[in-house]
Amino acid sequence: MKPSLQTNFAGVLLKNPLVLASGTCGFGREFSEIFEVSRLGGICSKGLTLNPKPGNGGIRIWETSAGIMNSVGLENPGVPAFIEKELPFMRTLGPALIVNLGGHTIDDYLTGVELLNTADFDILELNISCPNLKAGGMAFGIKTETAREVVRRVRSICKHPLMVKLSPNAEDITALALACEEEGADAVSLTNTFLAMAIDIQKGRPVFDAPYAGLSGPAIKPIALRMVHQCAGVLQIPVMGAGGITNWQDAVEYLMAGAAAVQIGTANFINPAIALDILAGLEGWMESRGIGDVTEIRGIV
Ligand SMILES: Cc1cc2nc3c(=O)[nH]c(=O)nc-3n(C[C@H](O)[C@H](O)[C@H](O)COP(=O)(O)O)c2cc1C
Repeated sequence: MKPSLQTNFAGVLLKNPLVLASGTCGFGREFSEIFEVSRLGGICSKGLTLNPKPGNGGIRIWETSAGIMNSVGLENPGVPAFIEKELPFMRTLGPALIVNLGGHTIDDYLTGVELLNTADFDILELNISCPNLKAGGMAFGIKTETAREVVRRVRSICKHPLMVKLSPNAEDITALALACEEEGADAVSLTNTFLAMAIDIQKGRPVFDAPYAGLSGPAIKPIALRMVHQCAGVLQIPVMGAGGITNWQDAVEYLMAGAAAVQIGTANFINPAIALDILAGLEGWMESRGIGDVTEIRGIV
């Protein structure tokens, strides 16, 4: 018998626990030309803001020895244009549709949520962890009490299941995750990128204009995994793990650490169809080990 990978995530049925991470698959158009995106459990939109954003100037992506740093700065068409031009296509892709929303101010978030309330998708991922905005963004995800306030206010108006995307730069990741749960979040996802730096030694100045940027990929996996384990250990709501997943073994580690589902991000830049390889590897491993249902390994560590 084929193992079951079906995952009930905060009341949303995922075909399997594999999700494409925000900002690493656009709105799914290019990916849908390369592989069957419909075979995945979920797909996250690029991070949206209320109004269109051109993103940051200067260098945006920098390769490191075990990952990448990015300073994209949430380039996106804005919520209204997304609803009109991108969402109808994304909805046809098949996987659970997760819309990622960032913001500079609480009012930005609230107006964005109000507009999105009328739209057809499965989960709102509230991004309080973007390191590449001058104001807002990650600032909401550092202090527990600030995160608490934005989640409380968004929860009071949000009509979709609410997943809060946490920053690894939080002052106390478990306290902050618990505050999100207390304020009515249906799930959390973690982690976003780690605030990091690179220096161009020939020019004698930072590579990025900002000058800091977000580090992702294999370099962050052991730390993000530890944070997922810590949060899953104290929360009742489900956790979507992210950070450096590049193969099925990484995905299994996150599931064993307590994640109900996982996001694949930077690895998509190495091989856009990598999520299907991870799916095949996970299924094959479960079959060979006689694991009938993916939930059997959740949180066993
Ligand atoms: C180029 C790039 C753009 C990203 N844009 C967003 C974004 O718009 N919103 C968001 O919540 N996370 C964004 N992220 C973070 C990823 O969704 C993910 O949380 C993080 O990269 C860790 O996973 P990974 O190591 O598998 O990439 C971005 C990451 C990268 C590399």
